[in-house]
Order: sequence, then C-alpha cells, then structure tokens
Amino acid sequence: MVTGATGTHLSDHAHIVVTGGAGFIGSAFARRYIANHPGARVTVIDKLTYAGNLANLAPVWENPRFRFVQADIGDDVAITPVVASAHAVVNFAAESHVDRSLTDPDVFVRTNVLGTNVLLRAARAAGVERFVHVSTDEVYGHVATGAATEETPPKPRNPYSASKAGAELLAFSYFTNFGLPVIVTRGSNTIGPYQYPEKATPLFVTNAIDHLPLPVYGQGTAIRDYLYVDDHAAAIDLILHRGVAGEAYNVGSEDALNTVELAHAILGRLDRPQSLVQFVADRPGHDLRYSLDSTKLRALGWRREYDLEATLDATVKWYEANEDWWRPIKSGAFREYYRRQYGDAFASATAARGTS
Ligand code: NAD
Ligand code: DAU
Repeated sequence: MVTGATGTHLSDHAHIVVTGGAGFIGSAFARRYIANHPGARVTVIDKLTYAGNLANLAPVWENPRFRFVQADIGDDVAITPVVASAHAVVNFAAESHVDRSLTDPDVFVRTNVLGTNVLLRAARAAGVERFVHVSTDEVYGHVATGAATEETPPKPRNPYSASKAGAELLAFSYFTNFGLPVIVTRGSNTIGPYQYPEKATPLFVTNAIDHLPLPVYGQGTAIRDYLYVDDHAAAIDLILHRGVAGEAYNVGSEDALNTVELAHAILGRLDRPQSLVQFVADRPGHDLRYSLDSTKLRALGWRREYDLEATLDATVKWYEANEDWWRPIKSGAFREYYRRQYGDAFASATAARGTS
C-alpha cells in the first residue's frame, strides 16, 4: 500500500490504464511502473498514430502484468470496457507536436479534447481512484518574466496548447461536478530515449549524427525548460500516489536553454561543427519563453535525478547507440513531413547527404 498523508491508498496490485503508452513519455512511464511496482498491472491503450511505436514497449511486452490494447481514446465502445476494471487512469494520449497543430488543428481537438472527454466519462463510470491527466507548461503560453506557478491563469497561444488547456478544464470540471479524483500535471519540454524525431532535440541529435544541418527557427532565441524523460515519468508516478485530487502540479527542471544553445550543446557532444546550425523561418506565434515554478511538486518529495548536463549526455548517447530505432522512422513517412515542414530546398540538402 502507498499511503501518503495527502495521497491515495492505491494498492500495490492496482490496475493502471496508461493511454498513449506507446509514445515517448507514456512508454517511459509504463516501463517504469512495471519495474517499480512489482504487483501492479499496466494496460496501455494506444491508437498507434505516426507517433506510437510498439518498439518503445519491447522491454515490458512479455511481462504477464502488461497488456496492450490498440484503440482510439475517442472510441467509447473500445475504451469503456478496458477502463471498467481500472483503479487509475493516466492519460498521456495526445497529438503532441505544435508544428503539426498549425497545419491540422482538427485532430488535436478530436483527440486532446473530445478523446479526453470519452476517457473521463469511462473513468467516472468505473469509479476509478485516480485520473491523472498529463498536460503541459504550454498552457501558460509565453511567460515573459518570472516563472508560472499552478495558479497562473492559462493563456495558450497555439492549437496544440489550446486543446491541452481545454482538456485540463474539462478534466477539472469532472472533479468539481462529479467528484472524479482528477489531478493535472503540467510538464516542461521533455527529452530522452524513444522521442519521435520531429521534436527539436531528437531531430537535432539525429541530423548531427549524419552531419546534416540543424533547422533552428527564427533567431534561435526561444527558451525552454528541458527535463529528462525518466524524471518526468517519476514525477507522474509520485503525483499518482501522493498528489491531491483537484490539484495541478508543475513538472519542470528549472534549467533554461534557448534553441541555439541547445543546438550547440548537441553539436559539441557529437564533435560536429557549429556551422551545422541553419536558421530557418520562425514558427508562427512562437512562444518565446516557458518557465515553471515546481515548488509544489518538490514539496511532495520529487527531486530530479538528471541535471542539464546529464540530461543532454544521456539523450545524445541513446540516439548514438540506437540507430536501429530512429533510422527506420526517419526514412519512412517522416520524409514527407520533413519536406512539408522545412521546405524542398532544406529537405533536398538533407536527402542529398544521405538520410531522411
Ligand atoms: P507522443 O506524441 O510521443 O505520444 C503520444 C502517444 O499518444 C502516441 O503513442 C500516439 O499513438 C498516442 N495517441 C495519439 N492519439 C491517440 C488517440 N486518439 N487514442 C489513443 N492514443 C493516441 O507524445 P509525448 O511527447 O510522449 O507526450 C505525451 C503526453 O505528454 C501528451 O499528452 C503531451 O501533451 C504531454 N507532454 C509532453 C511533453 C513533451 O515535451 N514531449 C511535455 C509536457 C507534456
Ligand atoms: O513544453 C512542453 C512541450 O514541449 C510539450 O507540451 C510538447 O508536446 C512538446 O512537443 C514540446 O513543445 P515545444 O514546442 O517546446 O518543443 P519542440 O521540440 O517542437 O521545440 C523546442 C524549441 O525548438 C521551440 O522553441 C521550437 C524550436 N524548434 C523546433 C523544431 C522542431 C526549432 O528551432 N527547430 C525545429 O526544427
């Protein structure tokens, strides 16, 4: 039994439904949960969109306490019976890439808002002990100075973050009106193993490995708070057990870098020239700074294990050692996305040098 003064009595044998568990952070959480809670059962529900990858679950696939269900969180008929036997739901499932939300907002609303509503309804019917909704620091929008606390009002500025803010508000409404024990987490920019290489960090690392240019938006001055994925997964595990229902928790490293600094840090680690940085058109509506105050999470006992140097070291090393994971992704449908996103000239320069 885990018995936090403020938390839940979620049993060691609890059945946890993890949605979006074939993605980057959800799979880290599922792998961690199976390893750290020896009696618990984990069911991953995932639609397997372009971002979902069963290889991310290979380490737990054969475990008798693990189960995988391929389903869309918006599909009531498929979701309700799976959630019916759950003691807790942790909702990672989402469309997660800001740039894609600028070209196709609809799917972001469908999955992130409507899909979350289907899950909330199923969790309410099941009477779950916990519903952890995984949200993002992007809901605060651009933070010009200081750091956002959980009390800072949401001010999302792109379709992705607007859909995430909508989902949060909906989740809280199930707490307020129906007593569903909802907790919301707002994590910062997370990096590490198994991250789909559309996101800046894995894109920069894998391009740099291949001596390819790194596309940096605008002047590269946008600031993010970079957090290692295992630290994010550990925070969600802690919040699941010890967090207070009806509350939100920021999950941030409080280590800021701008994009040029990120690119330079990656190139340096791979012994590549800084001249591989190539400035490209800026992201429209680009939030130029995110910053989180994570005091409330630390009060629950969370400490990150990876400082910024360790985060970058571990991330770069993983992509160096796991080309078998990312090369098939970059040579598939990703190519078309890359061409659309960065333009023919940039993509052709990349292709000419032998990858994506
Ligand atoms: P990801 O894109 O790597 O994974 C998302 C997963 O959700 C994929 O496996 C995908 O197949 C699945 N999915 C998408 N639509 C679905 C649907 N309709 N039904 C079922 N499954 C579906 O994303 P990630 O980076 O691992 O992010 C996970 C969660 O954490 C998201 O909710 C995201 O908003 C949030 N978050 C991400 C970060 C970050 O930096 N990556 C930071 C804070 C919060
Ligand atoms: O902060 C949390 C958020 O972090 C999550 O909610 C999102 O799901 C996740 O994708 C991430 O969003 P960002 O927009 O911060 O991450 P991304 O990796 O797309 O971009 C990081 C920074 O790098 C951002 O300022 C934009 C910039 N960038 C991004 C790409 C893809 C570039 O300069 N070039 C690029 O090619």
